[in-house]
Amino acid sequence: TQQPRPVVLIAEKLAPSVLDVFGDEVEVRHVDGTDRPALLEAVAQADALLVRSATKVDAEVFAATTRLKVVARAGVGLDNVEVPAATTRGVLVVNAPTSNIVSAAEHAVALLLATARQIPAAHATLQDHEWKRSKFSGVEVNGKTVGVVGLGKIGQLFAQRIAAFGTELIAYDPYASAARAAQLGVELVTLDELLARADFISIHLPKTPETKGLIGADQLAKVKPGVIIVNAARGGLIDEQALADAAREGRIGGAGVDVFSTEPTTESPLFGLPNVVVTPHLGASTGEAQDRAGTDVARSVLLALRGDFVPDA
Ligand code: MLT
Repeated sequence: TQQPRPVVLIAEKLAPSVLDVFGDEVEVRHVDGTDRPALLEAVAQADALLVRSATKVDAEVFAATTRLKVVARAGVGLDNVEVPAATTRGVLVVNAPTSNIVSAAEHAVALLLATARQIPAAHATLQDHEWKRSKFSGVEVNGKTVGVVGLGKIGQLFAQRIAAFGTELIAYDPYASAARAAQLGVELVTLDELLARADFISIHLPKTPETKGLIGADQLAKVKPGVIIVNAARGGLIDEQALADAAREGRIGGAGVDVFSTEPTTESPLFGLPNVVVTPHLGASTGEAQDRAGTDVARSVLLALRGDFVPDA
């Protein structure tokens, strides 16, 4: 008799590369991870669970499992997985920590430029058959000071890319290596100094209890007038209401925002403001990044199910 194959439960839309890696070694099942009752039922039979960012893998989910060995996050951020609850139940948690970092950095640059040149608003007028050339005037990036909040993998890639525009780079990151910062031509400063000096600010932090609400009304009161703020990291790092107030009152030049404190969402104080450019959490949404994320986590899942050592990616 044949051994039953391990069951891999895929709870969100993942790249086809995932299935290529799995081949016939596992039985793949699908569930909508945002449908709680369906998820709780399906996870009871699963040996592995694969998610992106929309599925909340919390203690309730772990309590519903009977044979789960591994949870895989096809991406970087683990803020939707309750890692201590996994550890308590002996479930391994893996992610794909480099899969989408280039895509995320590129999206931050895209939001910065789109905001600086008001591309979405200008596009909208022309789509409405209105030629409003004199209505739109932007700012150059060249010669400006760019503040990077969080000089980790994505922050560094962002810094390297924006450096090509002829910018002065400063960064706030209490954990950054001074040698690495110097190599990148980045001056490490305090958060207050960054807020006071930067013409553009881009956030590249994970969401943790320490970073949540890092930029609130108090911090936004310290920025340079006209600053453009980009967040393609996580919603809630910047207080959404405070940022919207600053944008509406013209205290900042604008904001480019890819992430929201609640997702998915169709309501935010940031929507409908002319100087705010928004996208629905698209930082990692490229064919290349999703392919890599899928392949990386599928490989780790197979190793975990075979009982092999799973190396850090
Ligand atoms: C991540 O943490 O990797 C990103 O938010 C992308 C995603 O959700 O897939």
